[in-house]
Amino acid sequence: MPAPHLPADGQARRMIDIEPLFAPIALGGTILPNRFVLPGMQRGWCSDGAPTHLLTEYYRRRIAGGVGLIVSESVAIDHPSATQSDSFARLDDRTAGGWGKCISAVRQEGGKIFLQLWHEGGVRTEGGSGPLSHHPTLSPSGLAAATRPNGRAATIEEIAAIRQAFVQGAVLAQEAGADGVEVHAAHGYLLDQFLWAATNRRKDEYGGSDIRNRVRLPAEIVAGIRAACGPDFPISLRFSQWKEADYAARVVDTPAELETMLAILKAAGVSAIHASTRRFWEPEWSESPLSLAGWCKRLSDIPVITVGSVGLDTDVMESFQGKEPRAQVRKGVTELLRRFSGGEFDMVSVGRSQIADPEWVSKVHRLEFDRIRPFKRSDMRMSDSDVAAEARRF
Ligand SMILES: Cc1cc2nc3c(=O)[nH]c(=O)nc-3n(C[C@H](O)[C@H](O)[C@H](O)COP(=O)(O)O)c2cc1C
Repeated sequence: MPAPHLPADGQARRMIDIEPLFAPIALGGTILPNRFVLPGMQRGWCSDGAPTHLLTEYYRRRIAGGVGLIVSESVAIDHPSATQSDSFARLDDRTAGGWGKCISAVRQEGGKIFLQLWHEGGVRTEGGSGPLSHHPTLSPSGLAAATRPNGRAATIEEIAAIRQAFVQGAVLAQEAGADGVEVHAAHGYLLDQFLWAATNRRKDEYGGSDIRNRVRLPAEIVAGIRAACGPDFPISLRFSQWKEADYAARVVDTPAELETMLAILKAAGVSAIHASTRRFWEPEWSESPLSLAGWCKRLSDIPVITVGSVGLDTDVMESFQGKEPRAQVRKGVTELLRRFSGGEFDMVSVGRSQIADPEWVSKVHRLEFDRIRPFKRSDMRMSDSDVAAEARRF
């Protein structure tokens, strides 16, 4: 007898046990209801550094749609070298009230939100006309990428001031009601420029060939936040091997170096590691099928967030470069569950797919893969018509 025809969703219900990804997890003193995260994604919906009503509604809508944790878009810390673009989010005395309202809306919906603290470092635009344009662009060694000079190397005093600005950003976030913070040390920005030997040519204790020196500033920032915000305040640290300017880059060449880096961050008080990759299933080193997140889990007991093209067949940079992705939610979720049951990660970030469908998480929970609105490149654009389209989805 041929098997009766089952719709795709029916097959999914029979074969997939999704519940493990919907078990709560504790990060520091905060309980998250499930394992799904909306990762930091700049949407262009801040005004003078503070979130607009549209951005607040965008976050609130994703909480209503089931996501367990929102990490805000990257928010520049209050240091004149952090960014000079008016269009980016900022956290300072002027904008903290606006962030407080946004956080409160998310929490009223029953959600959790971390603010992502960020400094552009050497990729900051030099020579603009804004109020901070007179301030130099700072980085470990005056490099935006391995062979691209921009600005100059920060002095020890400037490094101390930047560290303090990160800590102050976390204090402001906590006072504004945020459930935690994420220190952005990924994708080629300032703290990643410290981590990566190609952009960190310093000869002092913050640089050089030894990862223990290159991780010093990120670890000092985590330790400073821990001391200022208390033992239970969750601190995630996001790092990546890849950079927007170099996909083959590595901040750590070997598992042993990764183990050293993680041990230092753990001693500093980090609560979670967000291991940013473009495809969550790719092996980090040829000796094993483990992803970067999987290696972090193997080499430390810090909770780990994985990320990268969940449910899509193109990665984020391909999307930025113009390739239209195809959805493959069932395949992605199946692989995610396989790796989760193998202990490769504790949480998972889903970026572009949640831009496209605010109810992505609850539809996945119900195994309604066919009802998910597929991501299109145009969803990332931030023109007036896209803003209107997002507003219509509320
Ligand atoms: C429009 C857009 C903006 C982004 N902005 C940020 C950001 O502010 N901070 C950050 O850490 N990553 C940022 N990212 C990267 C995402 O957090 C995520 O790592 C990436 O999209 C991969 O996840 P995905 O394949 O599920 O989309 C951004 C991605 C997109 C698409």
